[in-house]
Amino acid sequence: MKTLITELFGIQHPIIQGGMHYVGFAELAAAVSNAGGLGIITGLTQRTPEALAAEIARCRTMTDKPFGVNLTFLPTVSSPDYPGYIKAIIDGGVKAVETAGNNPQKWLPALHEAGVKVIHKCTSVRHALKAEAIGCDAVSVDGFECGGHPGEDDIPNFILLPRAAESLKIPFVASGGMADGRSLVAALALGAEGINMGTRFIATQEAPVHEKVKQAIVAASELDTRLVMRPLRNTERVLRNAAVDRLLEKERALGANLKFEDIIDEVAGVYPRIMIDGDMEAGAWSCGMVAGLIHDIPTVKELIDRIMAEAEGIIYRRLAGLGHS
Ligand SMILES: Cc1cc2nc3c(=O)[nH]c(=O)nc-3n(C[C@H](O)[C@H](O)[C@H](O)COP(=O)(O)O)c2cc1C
Repeated sequence: MKTLITELFGIQHPIIQGGMHYVGFAELAAAVSNAGGLGIITGLTQRTPEALAAEIARCRTMTDKPFGVNLTFLPTVSSPDYPGYIKAIIDGGVKAVETAGNNPQKWLPALHEAGVKVIHKCTSVRHALKAEAIGCDAVSVDGFECGGHPGEDDIPNFILLPRAAESLKIPFVASGGMADGRSLVAALALGAEGINMGTRFIATQEAPVHEKVKQAIVAASELDTRLVMRPLRNTERVLRNAAVDRLLEKERALGANLKFEDIIDEVAGVYPRIMIDGDMEAGAWSCGMVAGLIHDIPTVKELIDRIMAEAEGIIYRRLAGLGHS
């Protein structure tokens, strides 16, 4: 399938794997790229620019297809060495960057000069328009359903994507709630040029996370996520567990007085304990409502081939078969 997104990134299928903390290692990025999508290494999971450079080099040994790096500009306790990470990306010959969080304007000239295409992930039409205005090549439009940070507007993709289509000139992909061929066709119908998936890619053979994480996603339904950190305007959609219940109880009890320090036990340093150790009650970890649509743990190639076959079946048989009135 050819779309503006496959053309932009030089990939076979319009499917991107969004950056995911402690999930987006070289193994997953390479598997997605080898299967014809765009795999993404999560920049900040690598503690230093040197570590990111090594991860990029490791990924190169696993694939000769294009892959990208995610750079997240979120409020973090200590500011990462962003210039160093940008240099590692450019020196590593990476040609696709997914930015997220704060405005990436400052980094665009260097990236563009090195021939890097930038897709900015955002959760509102106004931020997508801003990304277009500052010169991003594409945007990833993340609806309220998404795992991770859905922003504070709470607009689901059935409204957000057509609103993006009405407003944007640059291509965009649909992110949040995407799982299968139905999602891809719906996203295309709503004006997107492809899809970005997070949670679905965690439940794959190659995702380098503990087996218990994959099983938790398969076991979860669409009712099992919760929004945390809303009072801090840093909302995150996570899978419900005992730590999340505790966190929400603190949010209720402290109300507007809640500070980050109050919930540090439930949110800080959680990812390695969940993703590597499989300590499923360690704290709050991102997961999308799409868990309700995830029932198996295929290889990445099986997943992507299945999505494309299902999408083509829907387009060329089911929809084409509806005929003209
Ligand atoms: C476990 C997990 C970790 C994530 N970490 C990041 C991250 O570090 N940076 C980022 O930009 N997005 C992150 N995301 C968001 C994904 O890239 C993607 O936008 C989102 O998962 C899409 O929604 P979906 O889960 O419904 O597919 C994360 C998502 C998950 C599930």
